[in-house]
Amino acid sequence: MDIAETSQTLREMMRNAPRPCVLVPTMGSLHLGHVALIQRARQAAGPSGTVIVSIFVNPIQFDRPADLLAYPRPLAADLAQCEAAGVDLVFTPTAESMYFPNRSVTVTESSLSLGLCGATRPGHFDGVCTVVLKLFLLTGCEAAVFGEKDFQQLAIIHRMVRDLDVPVEIIASPTVREPDGLALSSRNVRLSPEQRADAPRLQAALLAGAKQATAGQVLQVARQLIEASPLTRIDYLTLVDAVTLQETENLDRPAILATAVFYGEVRLIDHVKLGKR
Ligand code: PAF
Repeated sequence: MDIAETSQTLREMMRNAPRPCVLVPTMGSLHLGHVALIQRARQAAGPSGTVIVSIFVNPIQFDRPADLLAYPRPLAADLAQCEAAGVDLVFTPTAESMYFPNRSVTVTESSLSLGLCGATRPGHFDGVCTVVLKLFLLTGCEAAVFGEKDFQQLAIIHRMVRDLDVPVEIIASPTVREPDGLALSSRNVRLSPEQRADAPRLQAALLAGAKQATAGQVLQVARQLIEASPLTRIDYLTLVDAVTLQETENLDRPAILATAVFYGEVRLIDHVKLGKR
């Protein structure tokens, strides 16, 4: 496994890399969810193609400085995981090498990013789109794998690629969960034992809500179950159209019941699909 720490080294390595090249963009603190993304990338690249993992805690997508500071960065363990998962190349740039101090160009998606996480995390998706486009350009990858857990991010990346004619195939990989239902996330390690034991209630609440007949009941049931815990603070709980990501009450179309919940300083997201398909 090769490691590139600067964009210059990366470009040199990519010149001779066997194609196709499939990228898995990450912020590190890798878990089994990332391993599933890497396996999906290998499937797409084939045994002789190149699987690249980028590990970069992208400062411009954090809206809360404390969250950026607390984000786990276990680089040695991440590199060992990549090696074990059969990754060919890992890109680990520094923030200084990714961004000029006077950078003045940002990629903004202006529709799908307005609600959900975009509403409560100003600038977050500008930061995501900007770094993802840079990673596409730096690696020259033909395809990239993203987790369905971040369904809003996935929809926005699809839109960016469509609207800007970016020649990269976007591959979606299903959410991986703990046996108790908690979606795997790099933030889970920051939960206290008590918060960790409580956190499966997010998925349970969403599934219970999704069984209800009307949009009002869906939201009411899910909210009650989340708020039954003294440890939670809801950032948002909403029902959106699966295509437009606009709030909806229409369950005759595919919809998504989504939530972001704080356990102390740790913000977790989850969602379930519902409505007629
Ligand atoms: O999903 C993530 O981990 C990040 O948003 C991504 C796509 C790696 C961009 O920094």
